[in-house]
Amino acid sequence: MAGGIRETAAALRREIERHNRLYYIEAKPEISDFEFDRLLEKLVALEKEHPELLVPDSPTQRVGGAITRTFPAVAHAEPMLSLANTYSLDEIAEFCKRLKKLLEEEGGRSMDTVAELKFDGVAVSLLYRDGLLFRGATRGDGMQGDDITANLRTIPTVPLRIDGTDHDLSALGTGDVEVRGEVFMLKEDFNRLNDSRPEEDRFANPRNATAGTLKLQDSSEVACRRMRFVAYWLKGLDDETAVHFSRLELLEKLGFYTGGNYRLCRNLGEIGHFIEEWSEKRWKLPFETDGVVLKLNDVRLWDRLGATSKSPRWAIAYKYPAQQAETVLREVVFQIGRLGTVTPVAELEPVKLAGSTVSRSTLHNFDEIGRLGVMINDRVVIEKSGEVIPKILSVVLDKRPADVRPVDVPETCPECGTLLVKPENEVSWYCPNERECPAQIRGRVLHFASRDAMDIRTLGKALVDQLVGLRLVKDVGDLYYLQQPQLERLGRMGPKSAQNLLRALDESRTKSFDRQIYALGIRHVGRATARELAIAYPSLDHLARAGEDEIAMVPDIGPVVARSIHDYFSGPGARELLGKLRDAGLKLCGPEKKALVNRNFEGISVIFTGTLSRYDRQKASDLVLERGGRIVGSVSGKTGLVVAGNEPGSKLAKARKLGVRVISEDEFEAML
Ligand code: IVH
Repeated sequence: MAGGIRETAAALRREIERHNRLYYIEAKPEISDFEFDRLLEKLVALEKEHPELLVPDSPTQRVGGAITRTFPAVAHAEPMLSLANTYSLDEIAEFCKRLKKLLEEEGGRSMDTVAELKFDGVAVSLLYRDGLLFRGATRGDGMQGDDITANLRTIPTVPLRIDGTDHDLSALGTGDVEVRGEVFMLKEDFNRLNDSRPEEDRFANPRNATAGTLKLQDSSEVACRRMRFVAYWLKGLDDETAVHFSRLELLEKLGFYTGGNYRLCRNLGEIGHFIEEWSEKRWKLPFETDGVVLKLNDVRLWDRLGATSKSPRWAIAYKYPAQQAETVLREVVFQIGRLGTVTPVAELEPVKLAGSTVSRSTLHNFDEIGRLGVMINDRVVIEKSGEVIPKILSVVLDKRPADVRPVDVPETCPECGTLLVKPENEVSWYCPNERECPAQIRGRVLHFASRDAMDIRTLGKALVDQLVGLRLVKDVGDLYYLQQPQLERLGRMGPKSAQNLLRALDESRTKSFDRQIYALGIRHVGRATARELAIAYPSLDHLARAGEDEIAMVPDIGPVVARSIHDYFSGPGARELLGKLRDAGLKLCGPEKKALVNRNFEGISVIFTGTLSRYDRQKASDLVLERGGRIVGSVSGKTGLVVAGNEPGSKLAKARKLGVRVISEDEFEAML
C-alpha cells in the first residue's frame, strides 16, 4: 500500500515538473493555471498526510515561507568574474585578433565563438551536490557572495534536481556541479509588480526589481514575484568534448532554460551578423537584453587564456548603444500624484524609438528642466537605455526655432491653486492641499479601485474624472453613497452601466482586510506591507490607534514606513474616512475572530526566527493569535518570546543579548 502512495506522489511530482517545463521553458502550457494549482494542492495534501514521502526536490518545497534576517556569506569555488564591455564593433574585431594571436601561441585549434544574448539581470551561482540543489548564491564581490538558496528555490526555472547519472561528476573534485546564470524578470511581470507597489516605491527597471527581490527576507514574497533563471555556464559535468556550445545544449538536457538564442560563429563576419540581427529583434523579446556575449567555444583554452583581475580573456560583451531619437517638445504639463507630488511630463511629437512610439517622457522634477535648459518647441534628443520610460537627454541648440518659449514652472498647484511646497531634503515639490485638491482625490480613488486594491473594474479614469469634477466624490468613502439617479445623469452612463458600478461597489465591500489597508493609499504601504499589517492588527481601528514604535515592530516594517502609517492616521480626515467606510458596511477588520482556543499566549509578543519544520509562518502566527498573543517583527526589550527554528537569524543573538526568553519548536508546540 505504502508503495502505491509513494508511486502516486512520484508520478504527481513528475507531472508537475513536466508542466512547469512546458510553461516556463517551452512556453507551450498544456493545462490552465487553475489545473496546475490543483495538481500542486494534491501533492501538498499527500505529503502532509505522509510526511515520510517528502523529498527535498519536491516541487512543494519551492516556497519555504522561511524568514531569514541575514544571508550567510559563501565563498565561490572559482571567482565569479565580470565581462569586459564594449560598444564598438572595432573592439570586437580586436578581441578576435587577440584571440587568434593567443591561440597561435597556445597551439589552439579553432577560434569559433559562441554568441549569446546578454541578459539584463542579476548573476547567481547554483551548486548541485549529488544531483540536488544545495546552495545558491549571489556574485557579491566575485570571491564571496550571499547564500540566497531559499529565495532561488522559489524560481520555477531553477531545477531542484539534475540528473548527472550519464556523466562524470569530477571536475570540481567533490562531485559538485556548478551552474551560473542570470536571474531576471519578464517585462510583463515587472510591470505587474510595479503596479502593485506604491507610486513612490516603484523600481526603475526589471534589473533593480530582481536585485531587490533576491534580497528579500520572506521567500514566500519572492515566489509571488515570478522571477526566471537563465543558465549560461556549467562546471563539474565533464562533457568529453569540452566545448561551450555543447555545454549549453547539455544544460538544456538537464532541464535548464538557456533562452535558446545562442549561435556558433566561425568568424568575425558571422559575429557581426548575429549582433546586427538582434539589434532590432531584441525589442520583441519579453525580457530586456542590453547586448551580446561572445565566448570562445573551446573550453580547454579558457584556463590557459586566463583572466585580468576583473574579466576573462576568452569572453567579451558587446553592448548595444542606448537608442536615441530626435523630436520636438510640444508642451510640459504638471501632473499631481495621489500623494501630491508634482511631476513635469514632456509631451512630445510622436517618434519611433526602440520598437515603440514615444509621445511622452518624464522630466523627473523641476531641477531637471533647468539643468537641460529646455524650452517649449525645442528639438530634443530622447534616449531609451535599459529603462522602460524614455528620458530627454539634451536640447539640439543649433536647431532652436524662433518660436520657443520658456517652460512655465508653476508656483501654485495647476489643479487647485494652492501654493506648492518643497520639503527640505527632497527634490520634489508638493501640493499640500491633501484633502481638497481634485488631482489628489482622483489619484486616491483610482488607487482604491485598482486591481490589487478593491478591484472595482467599472471605475475607470474617465468616470473618476466626472465623479470628482462634479464633487460627487470627495474621498473614497463617498463612492459607497452614490445613487443610481445621480449616476444616470452623468455623461456616457446609461442605467445599465450605473447598475454595474453600484453592483461592483457593493461586491467590493467584502474584499480582504489586507486589500482594504492597501487601498487606502498610505505612503510606502504596498501590497506586501499591507499583508503584514493585516496579520499584526485585528482591525483598522487598532492600527489607527497604534503608536509609531509599536508599528515599527511589525515584520518588515522600518521606522520610515511606521512613521508614514502613524502620520496617515493622525492626519486630517482619516478618522472621518474610516467612519464613512464603516457606516457604508465595510468591516475594516480581519476574518471574524474565532473564540480564543486558549489564553496561553495572552499579552505575549512573539517573534519567529529560522524555519519551523511543522508549520509555515502564516500558520504559526495564526496559532499564536488564536491564543491571545501578538506577532512582532523585531526584537526589543519588550519582546516576550522568541521561537527559534532551524538556521535562526540574527534575531536569536539579539534576543539572547537582551535576555528575551528563547524557546525551540518543541517547546512552542507544548505551549500551544
Ligand atoms: S558569462 C566570466 N553570459 O553580464 C563570464 N554573462 O557584464 C561570466 N550576463 O557578470 C559571465 N548574460 O551577470 C555571461 N549570456 C551571458 C550573460 C552574462 C548576462 C551578465 C553576467 C555578467 C555580466 C557582465
